[in-house]
Amino acid sequence: MQKILSKLYRISPAISLLSLPVGYAVIRPTGLGLYAFLGGWYLLQRSCARGAMFRNSTGLKIALSGKVVMVTGGNTGLGYETCLELCRMGAHVILACRDLSKGRSAVQKIQSKVPNGKITLMQLDLASRRSIENFVQEYKQMSLPSLDILVNNAGVMMCPYETTAEGWETQFGTNHLGHYLLTHLLLPELLRSSAPRVVNVSSGANQSMTPTKEAPIDIEAYAKVAPGAYDSRYSYGVSKLCNAMHARELSRLNPTLTAVSLHPGVVLTELGRYFAFNMTHPWIGWVLQKTLLPLFLKYPNEGCQTTLHCCINEVKKGGYYADCAISSRVHPTLLDDARCADLTALSKRLLKL
Ligand SMILES: NC(=O)c1ccc[n+]([C@@H]2O[C@H](COP(=O)([O-])OP(=O)(O)OC[C@H]3O[C@@H](n4cnc5c(N)ncnc54)[C@H](OP(=O)(O)O)[C@@H]3O)[C@@H](O)[C@H]2O)c1
Repeated sequence: MQKILSKLYRISPAISLLSLPVGYAVIRPTGLGLYAFLGGWYLLQRSCARGAMFRNSTGLKIALSGKVVMVTGGNTGLGYETCLELCRMGAHVILACRDLSKGRSAVQKIQSKVPNGKITLMQLDLASRRSIENFVQEYKQMSLPSLDILVNNAGVMMCPYETTAEGWETQFGTNHLGHYLLTHLLLPELLRSSAPRVVNVSSGANQSMTPTKEAPIDIEAYAKVAPGAYDSRYSYGVSKLCNAMHARELSRLNPTLTAVSLHPGVVLTELGRYFAFNMTHPWIGWVLQKTLLPLFLKYPNEGCQTTLHCCINEVKKGGYYADCAISSRVHPTLLDDARCADLTALSKRLLKL
């Protein structure tokens, strides 16, 4: 059933666009008003666009009270919604973000909605090794009993060529290496939990934006790609593939830890800030965001549903999820344990761990 539903979610924009003229042609002779028809179509389209919604199978409050959950990039978009929902469920949420002033306003918004929520704001720049190490040290000094769930959510997409503090291409350095180092340093804290989880927010781009599906990908080439050879789409796709491979490897190497990765769907957030039209003609992005896109994309709260599913419900160790269900739409490299082990070796070598 879930397979059928996820197929429907994928083709829903096409179905819904086709249904518009066909539906109107059918309904017109009945005398139903155009507005009534459009209203009905809008509701149908929105319910398709939002995708599957998380349903917990364990009793929300009980499931998360007393648990410590850390979310990177928690100040906006999917990360913010994830923090809000986890806070509502009674978790102690560590909101990690690089800009403390943005973080403070996110925390204020969450506290106004969940007055008794437990939330701690911490500064973390995943593009800087020093920041990650300071962050982990500060976290350890809080002496919390354990870290139960780590949500590696922060991400940057298709930015112009730039590098992290250590000289790695920014998307690879932030999305993969930054989260790899963070997880590595937090592993002892995670392993103290009775049921630790790591949830890597990957992307469907892991499948579609890599050079070819069968040819092996030279991941190392993306870490220090030269500006002239930089393709922002491929680099994003590779960094997101690494997120998924990292989760699979973590599960394989740590029998007591459950790590999974996921595609949240295509969601209306600030992730598209580097799209060409947003940079050259910001008004085009604004008009699209206010008119067409809300019909076909998920809202942030809808986009965080698969993350919540992966944090709370029964999941398959190392699995890749979309629309709150396991997904088989993955790049073949992800299913190759030897390649996942190679990525671990490469990440350790690059990070000198
Ligand atoms: N939106 C989608 O359609 C979509 C689809 C597939 C996958 N995803 C994935 O979902 C995740 C969340 O994205 P989103 O859509 O919520 O995007 P977003 O609204 O742009 O949020 C991204 C978050 O990551 C943070 N971040 C970026 N660089 C960072 C760094 N160096 N150190 C620490 N934090 C950093 C941002 O901080 P600032 O606010 O300071 O910039 C922000 O909090 C990403 O991993 C993305 O790849 C999103």
